[in-house]
Amino acid sequence: MKIVLGSGAQHLKDEVIKKAINYGKEVLETEIKKFPDGEKYIRILGEGKEALVIQSTYNPQDENLIELLLIGDSLRERGFERLLAVVPYLAYSRQDRVTKEGEPISVRAIMRMLSLYYDELYVFDLHNAKTLEFFPKKATNLSPARAIAEYFNEKLGDGIILAPDKGALERAKAVAEILNLEFSHFEKKRISPTEVQMQPVNIDVKGKNVLIVDDIISTGGTMVKAANILRKMGAKNIFVSATHGVFAKGAIERVENAVDELAVTNTIPTPVSKISIVEDILRLV
Ligand code: R5P
Repeated sequence: MKIVLGSGAQHLKDEVIKKAINYGKEVLETEIKKFPDGEKYIRILGEGKEALVIQSTYNPQDENLIELLLIGDSLRERGFERLLAVVPYLAYSRQDRVTKEGEPISVRAIMRMLSLYYDELYVFDLHNAKTLEFFPKKATNLSPARAIAEYFNEKLGDGIILAPDKGALERAKAVAEILNLEFSHFEKKRISPTEVQMQPVNIDVKGKNVLIVDDIISTGGTMVKAANILRKMGAKNIFVSATHGVFAKGAIERVENAVDELAVTNTIPTPVSKISIVEDILRLV
């Protein structure tokens, strides 16, 4: 199995090259540059029959997506017969339904487009796992739970894992089960006719280390709110993690000021992408 890394995976390159050999895989050399008018130029050196193409599609999303198609075309042209796309962060994954007449289901358009070249699609922690059905071939949603659990294991001790809402409970559960810890989620509770409060359900956080896990941190608002509540409730150390650090301007600082540590995975390169998903990728096939 050959490995090809696009521009959206250059931050993983050193680790992939270092570890690929242990998994019997070879990283192909690529030449990627831009023409003066902004169009991409792709050239992949090396041959094979099967390739795993790693390309995360964070900002510039559209450029990274087009590059993924060009890599697919280049490999087909070279006679590759089986192509696997590993897209650690899939752009447009939050645009998964029509909310106003006239809108597209953007994630469906992206998946259909990728299926023109790729036989299998692997993504990490898709915002809405049901949307994988839009990829007409084999599609898999990978969990970063093992990597997150390993990173926080010692720091947490006998702590608690929390999801910021019920919808994210499965994520908290996955990490908690690996570490054999308790888990729960936040819920909105009506205190009075005018006041709604967020609270962890059926769990006492007093004096405990707590890790809050989510799929995405964007503005950081959700995590800051949850962390402030835990502080008031007497939690010990508060750690925050997510699969994708899609940080809006100022979000990292906002979250870091509210918690003891913020660490996300490297599906997107950020200053706090301290948790690596490379082994999860290399283990795939
Ligand atoms: C929402 O559905 C997601 O799971 C995250 O909770 C959300 O994207 C976080 O956004 P923010 O960081 O802006 O609060």
